[in-house]
Amino acid sequence: MTYQQAKNLTTSTDYILPCRASEIDQIKSYIPIEKPDFDGAFGSYQLLYGADGNRIYLLGLGGDKHTPKIEEAFRKLAFETQKFWGKNIQVYAESLTHHDIKKAVIGLEMATYHIAAFKSEIKQQEAPTITFVSSFKDIATILKEGQYTGATINRIKSLVDAPPNVKTPEYLGDWAKSSAENSNYKCTVIKGEALKNQGFEAVISVGKGSVHPPVVIVSEYYGAKKDAVDIALVGKGITFDSGGLSIKPSTNLHYMKSDMGGAAVVLGVIELIAKLKLKINVVGVVASAENAVDGNSYRPGDVINSYSGKTIEIIDTDAEGRLVLADALSFVNQKFKPTYLIDLATLTGGVVRALGYSAAGMFTKNQEMAEEMSSLGNTVHERVWQLPLYEDFESDLHSDIADIRNFSGKSIAGAINAAKFLEVFTDAHYRWMHLDIAGVSFGDSPYAKMKSASGYGIQLITAFITSKVSK
Ligand code: BES
Ligand code: ZN
Ligand code: ZN
Repeated sequence: MTYQQAKNLTTSTDYILPCRASEIDQIKSYIPIEKPDFDGAFGSYQLLYGADGNRIYLLGLGGDKHTPKIEEAFRKLAFETQKFWGKNIQVYAESLTHHDIKKAVIGLEMATYHIAAFKSEIKQQEAPTITFVSSFKDIATILKEGQYTGATINRIKSLVDAPPNVKTPEYLGDWAKSSAENSNYKCTVIKGEALKNQGFEAVISVGKGSVHPPVVIVSEYYGAKKDAVDIALVGKGITFDSGGLSIKPSTNLHYMKSDMGGAAVVLGVIELIAKLKLKINVVGVVASAENAVDGNSYRPGDVINSYSGKTIEIIDTDAEGRLVLADALSFVNQKFKPTYLIDLATLTGGVVRALGYSAAGMFTKNQEMAEEMSSLGNTVHERVWQLPLYEDFESDLHSDIADIRNFSGKSIAGAINAAKFLEVFTDAHYRWMHLDIAGVSFGDSPYAKMKSASGYGIQLITAFITSKVSK
């Protein structure tokens, strides 16, 4: 869609009239009837026809508590009605804040997402121009930020929803390379002999059973006039998690195509901040492999090496995400020495049991970072909830024969155990945070029949990075 600003509303053509429940009386002058069937409830909408036969959509924004998720109201309206829209539609934005306008654009843009990418016939709709009527001085920047953000969310959703025979590790590498070319940043894909030579032993072990070889993607964006890296992002990029020889049950196994949700966030955020030209230096590292079953697969009982030199006893080949992340964390620390280090991963079923689909599990010993992330999560409605990294859990990872083992063997505190494992490979980084996004990155939605990608993480991490841009 195309977005622009106007200072006055043209009441004879189509428009959306957003309205909080408390503002019902104020919209009276814009609508043709005295009592519309509408109370401003969040996400509700009512179509009225104006005197010129134009459409007027009353859109309910609910109360203050709904402000962080305003995009959902716009998304729903656009998803359900855009097929009836003409080439132009206005949004009367006088009572919207800058935050609301950005969210509105994100929601409108998200409504253009095509999940049916693999149908033999693709229906493409012409995208309308959306005019925000606002007397703010200039909202061009806000409109652009919203549009880029929504478009990036759609792009990473396409990746997560893509089938695992298509989005191999190499495919993710190609995606990152072409994104880097289009959006002006650097991207290197480490694969084959180079992975071996550089010591990515854990990534190689996890990928051994697959015909699609593993890769490590290194994306570097330098927007500040210095060499130091402010923030490093690390993403789990398992393109399909069968569990390996510790094989998963077949029920819902097809959903394990989404086990690269963390990688998708990292790739998307780097692309977005490059497009926004943020004045900050950020690197993104994605460790990508397919966890497959084969005569050549790594086994429970194996002892493998890692980038850090620490040896790992494999108890369960389904605890593969922490292995590829271990290499990526050591690598990024050694090579870039970032000020902040954040990893994102669909890491455990445990976090889904603990927090459901409502918040990511957040692990850090840096309370300042925890509070910042938590507050940003509430603002953009991509919430996080802190879980502990108590010392008590250390002994669960002791191995008799190797430096560490990859699983405690206990069916308790799975998300914490995984986080404790990662911690060992962070070199006690003072500003490290791990986000377990297994519950929030992929799930049910009103817009698809099966579970699908949510786009979680793009707004949260971009907001965090934006907050670190030196003024
Ligand atoms: N990819 C899974 C975690 C997952 C579960 C993601 C559900 C999305 C939805 C991960 O690799 C895994 O299998 N974790 C196991 C680890 C266990 C074997 C130690 C788990 O959490 O059950
Ligand atoms: Zn697994
Ligand atoms: Zn996994």
